[in-house]
Amino acid sequence: MLTHEKIEKNLGWLIVLVILVVSVGGLVEIVPLFFQKSTTTPVNELVKPYDPVRLVGRDIYIREGCYNCHSQMIRPFRAETERYGHYSVAGEFVYDHPFQWGSKRTGPDLARVGGRYSDLWHRTHLLNPRDVVPESNMPAYYWLDRPAKTGDIELKMQALRKVGVPYTDEEIAGAKQAVEGKSEIECLIAYLQGMGTALKQAR
Ligand code: HEC
Repeated sequence: MLTHEKIEKNLGWLIVLVILVVSVGGLVEIVPLFFQKSTTTPVNELVKPYDPVRLVGRDIYIREGCYNCHSQMIRPFRAETERYGHYSVAGEFVYDHPFQWGSKRTGPDLARVGGRYSDLWHRTHLLNPRDVVPESNMPAYYWLDRPAKTGDIELKMQALRKVGVPYTDEEIAGAKQAVEGKSEIECLIAYLQGMGTALKQAR
Protein backbone atom coordinates (compact mmCIF):
# COMPACT_ATOMS: atom_id res chain seq x y z
CA MET A 1 0.00 0.00 0.00
CA LEU A 2 1.22 3.43 -0.92
CA THR A 3 0.67 5.62 2.14
CA HIS A 4 0.91 9.41 2.15
CA GLU A 5 4.14 9.26 4.11
CA LYS A 6 5.72 6.93 1.58
CA ILE A 7 4.75 9.25 -1.30
CA GLU A 8 6.22 12.26 0.45
CA LYS A 9 9.51 10.47 0.99
CA ASN A 10 9.76 9.03 -2.51
CA LEU A 11 10.81 11.67 -5.05
CA GLY A 12 9.75 9.61 -8.08
CA TRP A 13 6.18 9.05 -6.87
CA LEU A 14 5.90 12.62 -5.65
CA ILE A 15 6.86 14.04 -9.05
CA VAL A 16 4.48 11.73 -10.95
CA LEU A 17 1.51 12.38 -8.67
CA VAL A 18 2.07 16.14 -8.43
CA ILE A 19 2.12 16.35 -12.25
CA LEU A 20 -1.09 14.30 -12.37
CA VAL A 21 -2.89 16.54 -9.85
CA VAL A 22 -1.70 19.76 -11.50
CA SER A 23 -2.75 18.59 -14.98
CA VAL A 24 -6.23 17.53 -13.86
CA GLY A 25 -6.64 20.87 -12.06
CA GLY A 26 -5.40 22.76 -15.12
CA LEU A 27 -7.64 20.90 -17.55
CA VAL A 28 -10.73 21.41 -15.38
CA GLU A 29 -10.08 25.15 -15.27
CA ILE A 30 -8.95 25.74 -18.85
CA VAL A 31 -10.88 23.37 -21.13
CA PRO A 32 -14.41 24.68 -20.34
CA LEU A 33 -13.32 28.18 -21.47
CA PHE A 34 -13.13 26.90 -25.04
CA PHE A 35 -16.80 25.94 -24.94
CA GLN A 36 -18.48 28.54 -22.71
CA LYS A 37 -20.68 31.01 -24.58
CA SER A 38 -19.44 33.95 -22.49
CA THR A 39 -15.87 33.45 -23.72
CA THR A 40 -16.47 32.29 -27.30
CA THR A 41 -19.25 34.59 -28.55
CA PRO A 42 -19.34 38.40 -28.82
CA VAL A 43 -20.94 40.07 -25.78
CA ASN A 44 -23.33 41.97 -28.11
CA GLU A 45 -23.92 42.71 -31.81
CA LEU A 46 -21.70 45.82 -31.61
CA VAL A 47 -18.57 43.65 -31.25
CA LYS A 48 -17.47 43.19 -34.86
CA PRO A 49 -14.29 41.93 -36.55
CA TYR A 50 -11.76 44.76 -37.07
CA ASP A 51 -12.23 46.50 -40.41
CA PRO A 52 -9.01 46.62 -42.50
CA VAL A 53 -8.05 50.14 -41.36
CA ARG A 54 -8.39 49.24 -37.65
CA LEU A 55 -6.60 45.98 -38.24
CA VAL A 56 -3.59 47.83 -39.68
CA GLY A 57 -3.79 50.25 -36.73
CA ARG A 58 -3.83 47.37 -34.29
CA ASP A 59 -0.70 45.90 -35.87
CA ILE A 60 1.02 49.28 -35.55
CA TYR A 61 0.03 49.31 -31.86
CA ILE A 62 1.74 45.92 -31.48
CA ARG A 63 4.76 46.89 -33.61
CA GLU A 64 5.40 50.05 -31.58
CA GLY A 65 5.12 48.17 -28.29
CA CYS A 66 2.31 50.30 -26.85
CA TYR A 67 1.39 47.26 -24.72
CA ASN A 68 4.63 47.72 -22.76
CA CYS A 69 3.03 50.67 -20.99
CA HIS A 70 -0.73 50.23 -21.56
CA SER A 71 -3.05 47.43 -20.50
CA GLN A 72 -6.43 46.82 -22.16
CA MET A 73 -8.23 45.17 -19.30
CA ILE A 74 -10.37 46.93 -16.71
CA ARG A 75 -10.65 44.87 -13.55
CA PRO A 76 -13.99 44.62 -11.72
CA PHE A 77 -13.00 46.88 -8.82
CA ARG A 78 -14.58 50.21 -7.96
CA ALA A 79 -11.30 52.16 -8.27
CA GLU A 80 -10.97 50.85 -11.83
CA THR A 81 -14.56 51.14 -13.04
CA GLU A 82 -14.88 54.71 -11.72
CA ARG A 83 -11.78 55.72 -13.63
CA TYR A 84 -12.04 53.71 -16.83
CA GLY A 85 -15.69 52.61 -17.18
CA HIS A 86 -17.39 49.20 -17.28
CA TYR A 87 -15.02 46.35 -16.41
CA SER A 88 -13.78 44.25 -19.35
CA VAL A 89 -15.62 41.05 -20.26
CA ALA A 90 -14.31 38.13 -22.32
CA GLY A 91 -16.98 38.55 -25.02
CA GLU A 92 -15.46 41.90 -26.04
CA PHE A 93 -12.22 40.25 -27.19
CA VAL A 94 -13.38 37.30 -29.31
CA TYR A 95 -11.85 38.81 -32.47
CA ASP A 96 -8.54 39.81 -30.81
CA HIS A 97 -5.77 37.49 -31.98
CA PRO A 98 -3.59 37.85 -29.99
CA PHE A 99 -5.34 39.77 -27.20
CA GLN A 100 -3.61 42.87 -25.78
CA TRP A 101 -4.83 42.66 -22.17
CA GLY A 102 -1.41 43.06 -20.57
CA SER A 103 -0.86 44.16 -17.00
CA LYS A 104 1.88 46.80 -17.20
CA ARG A 105 0.48 50.27 -16.59
CA THR A 106 3.08 52.98 -16.97
CA GLY A 107 0.27 54.84 -18.75
CA PRO A 108 -3.49 54.48 -18.19
CA ASP A 109 -5.53 51.44 -19.26
CA LEU A 110 -6.81 51.91 -22.82
CA ALA A 111 -9.61 49.31 -22.92
CA ARG A 112 -12.30 52.04 -23.18
CA VAL A 113 -10.32 54.95 -24.59
CA GLY A 114 -12.52 54.94 -27.74
CA GLY A 115 -14.43 58.22 -28.03
CA ARG A 116 -12.79 59.78 -24.96
CA TYR A 117 -10.72 62.21 -27.07
CA SER A 118 -11.03 63.69 -30.56
CA ASP A 119 -9.00 62.36 -33.49
CA LEU A 120 -7.04 65.61 -33.45
CA TRP A 121 -6.18 65.15 -29.77
CA HIS A 122 -4.80 61.67 -30.51
CA ARG A 123 -2.83 62.93 -33.48
CA THR A 124 -1.22 65.72 -31.46
CA HIS A 125 -0.63 63.38 -28.52
CA LEU A 126 0.96 60.58 -30.56
CA LEU A 127 3.27 62.92 -32.49
CA ASN A 128 4.42 64.56 -29.25
CA PRO A 129 2.58 63.72 -25.97
CA ARG A 130 4.10 66.78 -24.23
CA ASP A 131 2.08 69.08 -26.51
CA VAL A 132 -1.15 68.08 -24.71
CA VAL A 133 0.06 66.53 -21.42
CA PRO A 134 3.16 68.52 -20.37
CA GLU A 135 4.24 66.05 -17.65
CA SER A 136 3.86 62.96 -19.90
CA ASN A 137 6.76 60.51 -20.22
CA MET A 138 5.20 58.69 -23.16
CA PRO A 139 7.56 58.55 -26.18
CA ALA A 140 6.82 60.73 -29.23
CA TYR A 141 5.84 58.60 -32.25
CA TYR A 142 6.63 61.34 -34.77
CA TRP A 143 7.33 58.89 -37.60
CA LEU A 144 3.77 57.58 -37.76
CA ASP A 145 2.65 60.29 -40.19
CA ARG A 146 3.65 58.21 -43.20
CA PRO A 147 1.68 55.98 -45.60
CA ALA A 148 0.46 52.68 -44.13
CA LYS A 149 1.70 49.53 -45.83
CA THR A 150 -1.12 47.57 -47.46
CA GLY A 151 0.84 44.73 -49.10
CA ASP A 152 -0.04 41.93 -46.70
CA ILE A 153 -3.50 42.98 -45.49
CA GLU A 154 -5.31 40.24 -47.45
CA LEU A 155 -3.00 37.54 -46.08
CA LYS A 156 -3.51 38.88 -42.55
CA MET A 157 -7.28 38.68 -42.91
CA GLN A 158 -7.08 35.19 -44.34
CA ALA A 159 -4.92 34.10 -41.42
CA LEU A 160 -7.44 35.60 -38.96
CA ARG A 161 -10.26 33.79 -40.79
CA LYS A 162 -8.44 30.52 -40.10
CA VAL A 163 -8.65 31.18 -36.35
CA GLY A 164 -12.35 31.98 -36.48
CA VAL A 165 -12.80 35.64 -37.47
CA PRO A 166 -15.72 35.64 -39.94
CA TYR A 167 -14.32 37.83 -42.75
CA THR A 168 -16.14 37.37 -46.06
CA ASP A 169 -14.33 36.99 -49.41
CA GLU A 170 -15.63 40.43 -50.46
CA GLU A 171 -14.26 42.07 -47.30
CA ILE A 172 -10.84 40.55 -47.93
CA ALA A 173 -10.92 41.51 -51.61
CA GLY A 174 -11.75 45.13 -50.75
CA ALA A 175 -9.24 45.43 -47.92
CA LYS A 176 -6.33 46.88 -49.88
CA GLN A 177 -8.50 49.60 -51.30
CA ALA A 178 -9.89 50.47 -47.86
CA VAL A 179 -6.41 51.10 -46.43
CA GLU A 180 -4.93 52.73 -49.56
CA GLY A 181 -3.99 56.36 -49.02
CA LYS A 182 -4.31 56.18 -45.22
CA SER A 183 -1.37 57.11 -43.02
CA GLU A 184 -0.16 54.92 -40.18
CA ILE A 185 -1.31 57.44 -37.60
CA GLU A 186 -4.82 57.52 -39.11
CA CYS A 187 -5.07 53.74 -38.86
CA LEU A 188 -3.78 53.73 -35.28
CA ILE A 189 -6.27 56.43 -34.26
CA ALA A 190 -9.13 54.50 -35.91
CA TYR A 191 -8.12 51.49 -33.80
CA LEU A 192 -7.93 53.57 -30.59
CA GLN A 193 -11.30 55.22 -31.26
CA GLY A 194 -13.03 51.84 -31.55
CA MET A 195 -11.57 50.48 -28.35
CA GLY A 196 -14.12 49.26 -25.83
CA THR A 197 -17.01 51.14 -27.43
CA ALA A 198 -19.32 48.12 -27.83
CA LEU A 199 -20.05 47.83 -24.14
CA LYS A 200 -19.84 51.55 -23.49
CA GLN A 201 -22.70 52.23 -25.91
CA ALA A 202 -24.79 49.43 -24.46
CA ARG A 203 -24.67 50.85 -20.96
C1 HEC B 1 6.98 54.41 -21.95
C2 HEC B 1 5.57 54.13 -21.73
C3 HEC B 1 4.56 54.39 -22.82
C4 HEC B 1 4.52 53.86 -24.08
C5 HEC B 1 5.50 52.92 -24.76
C6 HEC B 1 3.28 54.34 -24.67
N1 HEC B 1 2.60 55.13 -23.79
FE1 HEC B 1 0.78 55.96 -24.06
N2 HEC B 1 0.87 56.85 -22.25
C7 HEC B 1 1.92 56.72 -21.35
C8 HEC B 1 1.69 57.61 -20.22
C9 HEC B 1 2.60 57.76 -19.01
C10 HEC B 1 0.45 58.25 -20.44
C11 HEC B 1 -0.25 59.30 -19.54
C12 HEC B 1 0.22 60.70 -19.92
C13 HEC B 1 -0.26 61.11 -21.29
O1 HEC B 1 -1.48 61.22 -21.52
O2 HEC B 1 0.59 61.30 -22.18
C14 HEC B 1 -0.03 57.75 -21.72
C15 HEC B 1 -1.25 58.10 -22.30
C16 HEC B 1 -1.77 57.55 -23.46
C17 HEC B 1 -3.11 57.83 -23.95
C18 HEC B 1 -4.17 58.67 -23.28
C19 HEC B 1 -4.96 57.76 -22.35
C20 HEC B 1 -5.94 58.45 -21.47
O3 HEC B 1 -6.93 57.80 -21.10
O4 HEC B 1 -5.76 59.64 -21.16
C21 HEC B 1 -3.22 57.13 -25.14
C22 HEC B 1 -4.44 57.08 -26.05
C23 HEC B 1 -1.96 56.46 -25.37
N3 HEC B 1 -1.10 56.74 -24.32
C24 HEC B 1 -1.70 55.68 -26.47
C25 HEC B 1 -0.46 55.06 -26.70
C26 HEC B 1 -0.14 54.38 -27.92
C27 HEC B 1 -1.08 54.17 -29.10
C28 HEC B 1 1.15 53.94 -27.81
C29 HEC B 1 2.01 53.22 -28.84
C30 HEC B 1 2.14 53.86 -30.13
C31 HEC B 1 1.63 54.34 -26.48
N4 HEC B 1 0.62 55.04 -25.86
C32 HEC B 1 2.87 54.04 -25.96
C33 HEC B 1 3.02 55.90 -21.49
C34 HEC B 1 3.35 55.18 -22.64
